[in-house]
Order: sequence, then structure tokens, then C-alpha cells
Amino acid sequence: MSTPRARLVVDPAFRIGRVDRRLGGSFVEHLGRCVYGGIWDPEDPASDAKGFRSDVLGLVRELGVPVVRYPGGNFVSGYRFEDGIGPPEDRPRRADLAWRSMETNRFGTDEALAWCAEAGTEAMLAVNLGTRGALAAAELVEYTNHPGGTYWSELRAANGHPEPYGVRLWCLGNEMDGPWQIGHRPAADYARDALAAARAMRAVDPTIELVACGSSNSAMPSFPAWEATVLDVCYDEVDHISLHSYYGRPYPSQGAFLASALDMDRFIETVAATCDHIRAKHRSTKRIGLSFDEWNVWHRDSEPEHRPWLEAPPMLENRYDQLDAVVVGTLVNSLLRHADRVKVACLAQLVNVIAPIVAEPGRPAWRQSIFWPYRDLVRYGEGDSLRVAVSSPEHDVVGVGSVPVLDVAATVSADGEELRVMVANRSPDLDVPTSLDLRAWDGFELVSHQLLAPSAPRPGDGFGWPGPAAAPLPAERSGTLEVSIPAMSWSTLVARRRR
Ligand code: AHR
Repeated sequence: MSTPRARLVVDPAFRIGRVDRRLGGSFVEHLGRCVYGGIWDPEDPASDAKGFRSDVLGLVRELGVPVVRYPGGNFVSGYRFEDGIGPPEDRPRRADLAWRSMETNRFGTDEALAWCAEAGTEAMLAVNLGTRGALAAAELVEYTNHPGGTYWSELRAANGHPEPYGVRLWCLGNEMDGPWQIGHRPAADYARDALAAARAMRAVDPTIELVACGSSNSAMPSFPAWEATVLDVCYDEVDHISLHSYYGRPYPSQGAFLASALDMDRFIETVAATCDHIRAKHRSTKRIGLSFDEWNVWHRDSEPEHRPWLEAPPMLENRYDQLDAVVVGTLVNSLLRHADRVKVACLAQLVNVIAPIVAEPGRPAWRQSIFWPYRDLVRYGEGDSLRVAVSSPEHDVVGVGSVPVLDVAATVSADGEELRVMVANRSPDLDVPTSLDLRAWDGFELVSHQLLAPSAPRPGDGFGWPGPAAAPLPAERSGTLEVSIPAMSWSTLVARRRR
């Protein structure tokens, strides 16, 4: 039997839409060792005068993370932001009810915004709509964004930051559809509270962008009625609706795990359809954006037993392998394929907690396998997303159906000079000979094929997962290139205009 072939046709005319840079965002929550012992660790020799770990900052800058969501997550639904501002020695120690840990509050809003400035990233702040409401939400906006002369803006100045921070992106709570969420309530009740908070926050700063809570995943029994109810009430007052999704063990089969992006595609398309249904119902011209502000691989079967009320206990510290990197690659592709609707996305999370970066005491921070496809999202999530005509061999996955072996996305840079094609091969054993048809790219040549394939660590890789290696470049025949896409791999192929 001959080896099944794939064919990818990329054409600059097949534009999906402009990619919002914020698609490459990430997330830092007060959870486990993400903040304490992750981005902030004054005792570690690798930390600067503010207590920020310089090696972590270095990796975050290397990635070029455009936006970081903070401070939760589930944590935010029990959080008083006032606890985390002012002199550190006066800050209360509190029981973090979401994660049953001890919260020292030594790191708070000012530290987070200072860290974002040093990391060269924008902050996306979440307000607590679990156990608090419109007034506290508006007061936090006043603290961060008001120019001065009011109680909260003067307090910010007294705390060392006279200039407003100008935080643009705000989440109206977190996963309020989930019974695990502190303050979880029915959609209609959440919608009423989100509307009140949105109006109060906008009264302080009309320029902010607001994200209403959507569903915690596509399997929630209330999905997508939750979105319809919330948007029916809040349509005019919010800019985006959130989506969250994690994929990982326990899973029905490895094949189903590798097909996770099919669920992500469908989830995005269903939420977009729900938004547009409410838009039509309201006779509105406004289009709601999608904020996929938590996504990743999360294996929930490897958690050590949790002893409550410890300070920054290790939690959710997944170790990732090649399989996980390939799945993350397919999720990256799904986000890029929907760049016309998804305007913000946050890999959850950034450091230690289900994260691409690991920081341990007394050792340089290191990159996990998923760092690499995430880096490619940040690097190539720019310009326009292109629809690729894909004909790929398929395999049957029980419970899922027929799944294309290759998963593909493409972008062209804003200046039109660089084409990038991202390809995940989700077969465990099939190398796929692939024709890449670039006939529409007259004057372009393939300049690199970076390949993250199963491999042993190489000398000199140091700590962490070895990055992609350069694959040999194929010869071009009448605008078509023949490349092999190895089993269980993640590839980025870059073509540039000849000079
Ligand atoms: O990212 C970990 C947790 O997953 C977040 O706190 C919560 O929002 C989600 O359920």
C-alpha cells in the first residue's frame, strides 16, 4: 500500500482576518507557585531588587507575551484587592478559599502591574464578581486608571504610582457558570450583576474593554444557553465573551486527546453563532469578540495530595512531553484559524502551574515542551490569518470519528513579506509526505522548516525541552514543495519574498 499523501494549498487571497496580537496572551493566577516562587521570589538569587525572578522575566520577554491575565482564575472570586496594596507589612494573611491555601498578599495589584511593565506585557485584570459586586469593581478601576484627586487614585499615588496605569482589558468575574466557583449563580443573576459592574466600571473609565464570563468548557450542561442569557442582558455593555478549555488526562484515548482541536474549533464556532444570534435579535451592528482566556493541556491525574492552608504549595505542576506539545500546536492552530472572531487568548498559565516555564529555587528557569508551539503562536500570531485548503490522510478515532492526520494554520505578516505555515502531525506513527502548493506566492522562497519532533535531548540544550531543529529544505518544482511531516511533530515553515 502506498503511503498516504497530503496536499496543502495556501493562497494570499484566502484571508480569514487580521490576527489580534493579544491572541498570544497568557495568565498568572495566585495559585500554587505561579506568583510566589514563580514570577516573584525575593529570596531567590535570580531575583531583582523588586523580588521578580530575572530568569523568568527573561523567558517571558523572549516569548514576547503580549498580555497577561491576573489575578485569577478561581482565586479572584474570593479576593479583596485592597488586601494586596499598601505597605507589605500591613497586608493581611487570608485563607484563599478557592485553592485552600494561605495567601500572604505580599504580591498584589501594584506588584503585578510593575511586573507587567518589566516584562513588556499588557495586563488584563479580572474583578471579583463571585463574592463582591459593582462598587468594588469600579473602585479597582478607579485605583488603576483614574487620573487623580479621588480617594482610590490618591491611594495609588501614595503607594508609589501617581500616574494611572491605564489598564484596558477587564474580565467581569471568572467561570461564574461553574458550581465550583465561589459565588456561582444562574446565568440571569450573573448577567444582571455583570451589567451593573460594567456600567459602574465604565463610569470611571469609558475607554476600557470588558469581557463577560462565558462557559468554562463546551461540556457544561448550561452551554450555550449561558452565553445567550448573559449576552441578551449585557450585549451593549460588553466587548467580548470568555471561553475556557483544557484537554488532558484522564482521556478516553490518546487519539481523542490528539483530536482536541476539533472540540476547540466547534466550541469557538458555537459561541460565535450564539453571539450572532443575539446580535440579530437585538438588531445590533456591534460584533462581540471572543476571549479564549484560559486554554491549555492540563493532566488532572498527576496531582499530589493537597494539604490545606500552606503558602504557595506546589499545585498543578504538570510536566509536558512531545505528545502534549503536538496537542498545544493543534490548539494554537485552532485559535489562528478563528482569528476573525477570537480577539484575546491566554495560555493558562505562564509559570509552574500548567505552564510553559518552570522556575525552581536555585536553578535557572527552564522551558517545557509546550513552550515551543506557544512561542510560535506569539511569534507568528501577527498579520493576517489565511485559510489553507488541506487534503490530509484521516484516521478513525473511537468516539470522535474521522480525524485528519495533519492540522494546519497559516499567517502572512502585516507587511506581506513573510508567509508562515504551521503543521501538526497527530499520528503516533505515520510520516506524511506533503505537497505544499505555494504557486500563488510568486517571488517567495522557503527559508526555513523548524521541526519539533520526538528526539533525545542534545548536548548544550541545558535544562528543559530541546527546541525545534532546522529540517532540510526541499527543492521547489513549479511552485510546489515536497516535504515530509514526521509522525507526532510540530512544524513551522516560513517563506519570504526574494530580495
Ligand atoms: O487555570 C486553573 C483554573 O482553571 C482557573 O483558576 C480556573 O478559572 C479554571 O477552572
